[in-house]
Amino acid sequence: MRIGVLTGGGDCPGLNAVIRAVVRKAIDEHGDQVIGFRDGWRGVLEGAFDELTHESIRGILPRGGTILGSSRTNPYKREDGVERLRATLSDFNIDGLIAIGGEDTLGVANRLGGEGIDVIGVPKTIDNDLGGTDVTFGFDTALAIATEAIDRLHTTAESHNRILVVEVMGRTAGWIALHSGIAGGADVILIPEIPFDVDEVCRLINRRHERGRYFSIVVAAEGATPRDGTMELPGDTSVDEFGHPRLGGIGYALEREIESRTGFETRATVLGHVQRGGSPTPFDRVLATRLGLAAVDAAHDGAWGSMVALHGTEIERVALADAVAEVRHVPPEEYARYGVLFG
Ligand code: F6P
Repeated sequence: MRIGVLTGGGDCPGLNAVIRAVVRKAIDEHGDQVIGFRDGWRGVLEGAFDELTHESIRGILPRGGTILGSSRTNPYKREDGVERLRATLSDFNIDGLIAIGGEDTLGVANRLGGEGIDVIGVPKTIDNDLGGTDVTFGFDTALAIATEAIDRLHTTAESHNRILVVEVMGRTAGWIALHSGIAGGADVILIPEIPFDVDEVCRLINRRHERGRYFSIVVAAEGATPRDGTMELPGDTSVDEFGHPRLGGIGYALEREIESRTGFETRATVLGHVQRGGSPTPFDRVLATRLGLAAVDAAHDGAWGSMVALHGTEIERVALADAVAEVRHVPPEEYARYGVLFG
């Protein structure tokens, strides 16, 4: 077979481990050729690719990012996008694609299936918000980075008797905030799924003071929002090709609000893209490798239109349509379970 591979959307640690596994298995076990498209769907639209060989994947397992490059290109927003994709695949005799991505990249993959273009999906994202799989690779690494940051902020917060607000990524899902906050012992955790009341945040911080703890750590997901009318929010109206707004700014807004309402010195740290960079954790390397191997099996079984996914301890296949049907959010009852740890 000639299998095309692409990585789309925001990068995350573990992408190279998938690419390596695909290339090793496709070439060594099946004698396939593997074509690496540049920068997600852009490479397929423009016919920009390199053949991937053993040489191309040497040493990439522990490397963050993606050797293929990534972008948020949406073929459905480009003139004749689908026809151009089809032309590339036919001009270069590509039998099918392995698309490694999150809800946007795999949403396109799913739509393309309906147009007769053969794609297998591999789920990735630090946000852990994709349906159809128990967890996405990249999440564990982002979590480890955010937790380490919270641990470090704890010591300086305590030395200065300060309130430190940590803004983490995750888009509209609170997985990184909730899990890093729990792992790091945060005193307040704010997630997009549950609009927050800043008065309640201040009440929890004040209660800690009454109990003799003069510092606090507040973890806020970038998508966390205050209840209507309770607090001014920063606004950026720009959106990407998939219609997603650029998030961020809640950390600094909370810094101002908490300091003025409590009178306690408050500082914000925005972790930003640090959470997406660097070497994947062993968990993410193994998961990414398993998914890459399974994607090649799926291609050889002709299981186009499916996504390989982690269910419990097994890698299984699900329909791409089911995986992208809904974003996977933190269930309110899971958040509520941790309430006793706040303040
Ligand atoms: O989806 C991954 C993610 O890192 C989100 O957590 C974040 O909102 C977004 O991508 C940032 O995108 P960009 O890298 O385009 O700024």
